[in-house]
Amino acid sequence: MNKKNPSTTHRLKHATKHLANGVALAVLALPLAAWATPAEDAAVPPETLERLQGMAPGAPLPKPGQFVHIPPTMEDLEASSLHPKLKETIRRGHDLFTHTQQLRGKNVFNDMNCSSCHMGEGRLPFSSPVWPAAVVLPNFRPKNGHVNSLEERIAGCFTYSMNGQPPAYGSDDMLALAAYHQWLAKGVPMYQPGNTMYGRGYPKLAEPELKPDVARGQAVYEAKCALCHSADGSGRKQNGKVVFPPLWGDNSFNWGAGISRLFTMASFIKHNMPLGQPNSLTEQQAWDLAQYIDSQERPQDPRYTGDIAETRALYEATFHKDTLYGTEFEGRILGDHSNTGEKPFLKPEGVLRSRDFSGRATNTN
Ligand code: HEC
Ligand code: HEC
Repeated sequence: MNKKNPSTTHRLKHATKHLANGVALAVLALPLAAWATPAEDAAVPPETLERLQGMAPGAPLPKPGQFVHIPPTMEDLEASSLHPKLKETIRRGHDLFTHTQQLRGKNVFNDMNCSSCHMGEGRLPFSSPVWPAAVVLPNFRPKNGHVNSLEERIAGCFTYSMNGQPPAYGSDDMLALAAYHQWLAKGVPMYQPGNTMYGRGYPKLAEPELKPDVARGQAVYEAKCALCHSADGSGRKQNGKVVFPPLWGDNSFNWGAGISRLFTMASFIKHNMPLGQPNSLTEQQAWDLAQYIDSQERPQDPRYTGDIAETRALYEATFHKDTLYGTEFEGRILGDHSNTGEKPFLKPEGVLRSRDFSGRATNTN
């Protein structure tokens, strides 16, 4: 155990008290890379709890019945017996994931890398680790109302979070990214139920005690966030390279991005920010910050029909009920503009289409 960190030690002690220690001890000897278990019938070993606490300090520990998976690292990849050409592909996917700016102007039109929101190379619990997508898909996705593949899910984040144009399905870049996601899911059973996965997505916080408030959010922002993300939310660059990504404005994610939902933003902040001090803010502060950040402008939702009220209404039930898009703030309607940010188009081409497997459709392409 890490004796230097009393709070980690304390939390682990507390957690291990509840473990069936016979089972826990029996699995201590197992190699921990890509360790996975249905927590229902096997207690989570203390080492795994400790690793989880190292990955997500201060985050809630696994509850009984939750499925825990620690994704393998790039070092594990080198040590593995995969074909050298496959290793090369996965390394390329990892590089695209963590340095997505290399696709700037082609697939990416803002200052984000995938790892700006999926922190720790997409491996961390409570920072939407990306391995679940490799095993829960293909599946129905309410956001677009049809069955999605892994490539399509990745394309979704390119479209909204990167305010971009996804690489073509089947392209080398798409294959490399998908391979990296699958590598992270190594050992997880296919169609493992997604709702029991520990730390998946940005798990919803409890409802705020007080109604989230922009002014309170702004005060916390100025004290705890502006240093890195700038007072005007535009982030910071050094020698032309993004060091702190923007939270709003032309170079941020657009109005269709999942993190523009208040509950998603609040959870991301609580569990990941300020950088290096995850879980240090109160839940109320996280909700207030989400309210403040979401009441700022950002590039248009690519699903925009040309009419803000109509667009909000179309996607209200599946999405915008949780954003401030199309609502009034300080005398303006948020999102009521045709600004697509640095992107010279509104909708990406080719990749986003509906699908139909009823056998009745003539052509869905
Ligand atoms: C601006 C923030 C942001 C960026 C940048 C971003 N994503 Fe995401 N991503 C999200 C959010 C929000 C979700 C949904 C999480 C949830 O449901 O709680 C998500 C979900 C996902 C999922 C599904 C995970 C699951 O549990 O099924 C995958 C896969 C994914 N993103 C891949 C990517 C890739 C690849 C990139 C880069 C091309 C990327 N994301 C960039 C915010 C982002
Ligand atoms: C010490 C610098 C630092 C501080 C302070 C900080 N952040 Fe961040 N933030 C980052 C970095 C760096 C990333 C990208 C993650 C990465 O690259 O690992 C990020 C990512 C984000 C993201 C997701 C990506 C985006 O641009 O939208 C949000 C949202 C965010 N921070 C909000 C906040 C909030 C709110 C606060 C204050 C409570 C805060 N941050 C404080 C450095 C910081």
